[in-house]
Amino acid sequence: RGLGSVINMRDFERVAEPLLSTVAWAYYASAGDDEITKNTNASAYQRVEFRPRVLRRVGAADASTTLLGCPSSIPVFIAPAAMAKLGHPLGEVNLTRGAGATGIIQAISSNASCGIDEMVAERLDGQPLFYQLYVNRDRKKAEELIRRLDANKFDAIMLTADAPVGGKRERDLRLKGEFEGPAGGVSVKSDDTQGVSQAMFAGVDPDLNWDDLKWIRSITSIPIMIKGVQTVEDALQAYNAGADGILISNHGGRQLDTTRPSLDVLLEIRKHAPQLLRPEFRAPTGPTAESLAHPERLTPADDASAKPLPRRFEIFIDGGIHRGTDVVKALCLGANGVGVGRGFLFAQSVAGEEGVEHAVNIFKQEIELALRLLGANKISDLRPSFVEVKDK
Ligand code: FNR
Repeated sequence: RGLGSVINMRDFERVAEPLLSTVAWAYYASAGDDEITKNTNASAYQRVEFRPRVLRRVGAADASTTLLGCPSSIPVFIAPAAMAKLGHPLGEVNLTRGAGATGIIQAISSNASCGIDEMVAERLDGQPLFYQLYVNRDRKKAEELIRRLDANKFDAIMLTADAPVGGKRERDLRLKGEFEGPAGGVSVKSDDTQGVSQAMFAGVDPDLNWDDLKWIRSITSIPIMIKGVQTVEDALQAYNAGADGILISNHGGRQLDTTRPSLDVLLEIRKHAPQLLRPEFRAPTGPTAESLAHPERLTPADDASAKPLPRRFEIFIDGGIHRGTDVVKALCLGANGVGVGRGFLFAQSVAGEEGVEHAVNIFKQEIELALRLLGANKISDLRPSFVEVKDK
């Protein structure tokens, strides 16, 4: 399966489409209702424009960073996406191997088509793994799963909060009655009344609430990130409730359609709750009084009066990210890292583990190129002054 023609992440989608079954294509590519948010997630990044600095010794660049304390060769992780076996016989195992070989982090879906043990068996020494949690209505089952995550030393739990029920994914619905396969350890069957995605939500508890976060916290010390935050209010509530981080996400537009693109939520947090960001990211975008007074400095001097939050709180974002420049823009605006969902599903569908490695290399090269052309050498050089955000 030709990787030669794949030179960017959009190419994976184009090459994957004819290789996938109609059911797989519909499940992977679909989004809620009219798929408006799926598209604005991506186009929103065009509203952020760069302000590169010149003559900055960019002979070398380093895209590595840490995500919730775990090393990562690039500030990109594999967002949890179910049913990788629909695209390739080895399924999520491709993601575990590809992530291990390239030094990035895989977040495993609760609805993965491979078992936890199969993926953990592929884990290299010291390879970090995150787990995305859907909380079962049966709390005994939920607790057993969390204890398994503990026993397997998972590095973070992503508690998905934007999917108490499944969205209306019409491409998927039109194919109901045509699929049966494994997900999350149970067999999922779409029938005459539901498509694949609806069948998968059968065990998920729609009454999940902030008290359950306390309950999860009481049974495990694994760091917890809330996935699916879409307002500054919920970002603040997540911090106040003791979460270690949030993943700003609208599930790739697969849930409530016409929600704002993820990028706008990050901008809202910058505006109304800058204290949630690391101090150096609270500055406005564009030139500032300080950068004009000291144009020779790439990064502003530390403001001693700016206090970091009393405890760790990292901000991640996903949805519509296709380019190294998208990643760098999100980081300039204060994100610690970004997730990519469909891109890695398509990559493993096209060429298994090798496809995943190819995707990471594309991101790595594009991120390093963007860093150097911006006048930066490393992820910690990035600041809001490297971008300007245009009004809608
Ligand atoms: C997802 N996503 C998802 N999220 C989650 O918390 N649990 C899950 O099981 C799944 N499953 C899933 C399947 C498929 C096919 C897709 C495309 C997505 C959402 C995923 O984690 C992520 O939020 C989005 O995919 C990010 O958007 P992009 O990168 O696909 O645009």
